[in-house]
Amino acid sequence: MNSLDVLAIRKDFPILNQQVNGIQLAYLDNAASSQKSVQVIDAITEYYRRDNANVHRGVHQLSQRSTDAYEASREKVRNFINAKFDKEIIFVRGATEAINLVAHSFVKPQLNPSDEILISHMEHHANIVPWQMICEQTGAQLKVIPMTLQGELDLSNLDDLLNNKTKFLSICHVSNALGTVNPIKNIITKAHAKNISVLIDGAQAVPHMTVNVQDLNCDFYVFSGHKMFAPTGIGALYGKQSLLEDMAPWQGGGDMILSVSFECTEYNEIPYKFEAGTPNISGSIGLGAAIDYINKVGIYRLSKHEQNLLVSATAKLQAIEGIKIIGEAKEKVGVLSFTLKGVHSHDIGTILDQHGIAIRTGHHCAQPVMKFFGISDAARASFAFYNTMDEVDALIQAIKKVRELFA
Ligand code: ALA
Repeated sequence: MNSLDVLAIRKDFPILNQQVNGIQLAYLDNAASSQKSVQVIDAITEYYRRDNANVHRGVHQLSQRSTDAYEASREKVRNFINAKFDKEIIFVRGATEAINLVAHSFVKPQLNPSDEILISHMEHHANIVPWQMICEQTGAQLKVIPMTLQGELDLSNLDDLLNNKTKFLSICHVSNALGTVNPIKNIITKAHAKNISVLIDGAQAVPHMTVNVQDLNCDFYVFSGHKMFAPTGIGALYGKQSLLEDMAPWQGGGDMILSVSFECTEYNEIPYKFEAGTPNISGSIGLGAAIDYINKVGIYRLSKHEQNLLVSATAKLQAIEGIKIIGEAKEKVGVLSFTLKGVHSHDIGTILDQHGIAIRTGHHCAQPVMKFFGISDAARASFAFYNTMDEVDALIQAIKKVRELFA
């Protein structure tokens, strides 16, 4: 297998070719949001120039073209995560909306006050707060799988945590704050052995690895487009056909109905039952184009390159006095969170920005993770396949300068 031609790839991402504060940009904030290729930008532009119209509603040419493009993207998403049927793919605003949809339409109607929902200690707020909200509304309890100081899940008590009160398990495939890749297949199998349904938050996984929902056998899998080189405001919820069919719609409106009268409404079939109102048509087309791009690069080659960046950056960062890496799991994607003794992460981020380097600082929407490590915030560099070793070196040099400045 050939290695990536990163310099050629970078030409497809016009945003990368710019200076920030007079220095060549090194964009290392991909876990927060990733950049878009010209192919994705052009697909959206072309749609608005040529095909723009509402979907599923018009007999005219433009509406038919829009509908075809929208549904073609659904098929691309299906293929990308190897779902069985197109109708198992619901277009949503992003992973957050997908989790809220499942919480309200699938889990909440089943909850009694003595029930439990299980999540893990390393979840993003998007996979904590929706569950807390439905627990508050029903009296159910939120339970948490603990983690270790390495930033791995501590599964030693999983059999007890998955008990006869547990109604649902929702867990991330990859931690946004730590980069940890969780052994979700094993966890799903254990939950299913006790008839517990499982949602996987794959927002940080899909840009970096092959996901096969049939092999995982998860009940729901959710992700956002913007972290996988597609536009903001689009994402997907995968759900098993039988579950989606039995669920009530989450939002009411146009396109999710078969017939409406003042007496009653008959809902549309899946996936439309969950896509009320005019959807994000251009976003779905952009998502389809992003999937085409990832497939062209090859997910295996892409992840190999990112692993090289991660290994090199980790070793070089560790060698700097005062650095503490947050998240040292054996299996990680290219996410590198760290603290520098005596320096607030916002100061690190601000000084790095002066060197043209974009990273994330703060709590990463994962305050329980920060609390676990006894910190309120951290700096985080996160890599995509268009990043280079030169950018890793620029990061390390800039962090050394931060250290000197605060020494
Ligand atoms: N979830 C995003 C992050 O990890 C915003 O930065």
